[in-house]
Amino acid sequence: MVEHTTLVTGGAGYIGSHAVLALRDVGQGVVVIDDLSTGARTAISSDVPFFEGNVADDALVRSVIREFGVDAVMHFAGSVVVPESVENPLKYYKNNTCVSRTLVETCVEEGVANFIFSSTAAVYGTVEINPVTEDLPPCPDSPYGKTKLVTEWMLRDVSAAIPGFRHIALRYFNVAGADPLGRAGQSTPNATHLIKVACEAAAGRRDYVAIFGEDYDTPDGTGVRDFIHVTDLVEAHMLALAHLRGGGESLVLNCGYGKGFSVREVLEAVRRYSGTNFEIRGSSRRPGDIPVLIADAEKIRECLGWAPHHDTLETIVAGAVNWERSLKPSNGE
Ligand SMILES: NC(=O)c1ccc[n+]([C@@H]2O[C@H](COP(=O)([O-])OP(=O)(O)OC[C@H]3O[C@@H](n4cnc5c(N)ncnc54)[C@H](O)[C@@H]3O)[C@@H](O)[C@H]2O)c1
Repeated sequence: MVEHTTLVTGGAGYIGSHAVLALRDVGQGVVVIDDLSTGARTAISSDVPFFEGNVADDALVRSVIREFGVDAVMHFAGSVVVPESVENPLKYYKNNTCVSRTLVETCVEEGVANFIFSSTAAVYGTVEINPVTEDLPPCPDSPYGKTKLVTEWMLRDVSAAIPGFRHIALRYFNVAGADPLGRAGQSTPNATHLIKVACEAAAGRRDYVAIFGEDYDTPDGTGVRDFIHVTDLVEAHMLALAHLRGGGESLVLNCGYGKGFSVREVLEAVRRYSGTNFEIRGSSRRPGDIPVLIADAEKIRECLGWAPHHDTLETIVAGAVNWERSLKPSNGE
């Protein structure tokens, strides 16, 4: 009989599937709800309890919480594509904000005390000074960042109002890489994440990779980002879970390494590691993109004792390339 059970929403997606593995690796209970809008059933082992559905379906969530004795939620389910959020903001306000509101309400009504939320560095917007600390007033540029920020605010208010309910909002910087044992990786269809796109090009699944903006005020003119390995990110979730279960206070924490790589550096690293010379094309800036964004990662080290183990660009790129190579070609390729 497992002592604790975590409901992982979006567990069939990229990051959620790694969290499911981590929970199982330490023998903790886990149950997944995912509507498979961007996730895949095959991303999670068939012996993990899985319910296909929307996390805004309160009857479903309620029955899962009761059946499995859920005491914590890792809320990964959401919509993640910044340019799409600019074109279709209502989709994002619905899926990232309204859906989260319903889920939180169900958790509160069912007495689930511990809630971990997948937030994003996009809440900061365009910043003057890097690295960014959590107390910098957030000013998101994109609807995506705004929808996540509103959910952070909601969680802060709920945690203040409801005795016993506490949360940790983890602001992820750029998540990349794959499970070191090769059990999971990123399979998101039509992904826009830089390293995923580059790996697809290296595997011959894309003709080229576009660099959106080569005229930023950065050393090589391309955007600079803080990339975090998915396994280090999931470790942050495990520590956050232990913190909340141990009665720790609600927190907002950056998840990044505190160092940046330019888009061009990353593409060159993928070319080098994969031994391919896929085409790189310059393109104009995308709406909602930020020139430079690097985490100040001190607070998560202090509050949770987090320490990364996979924090080199080579490790991140190698895992992602190897994962991409392991994927079967889809129809038509
Ligand atoms: N990937 C990144 O670099 C990154 C950066 C910052 C924040 N995040 C956040 O992390 C979370 C996970 O991102 P990911 O990269 O794994 O994305 P993903 O698209 O691979 O995973 C999201 C999962 O949630 C499911 N889902 C979406 N809406 C749902 C709903 N209403 N009900 C049930 N299931 C639903 C999808 O089917 C998918 O399996 C997201 O909330 C995202 O905003 C990701």
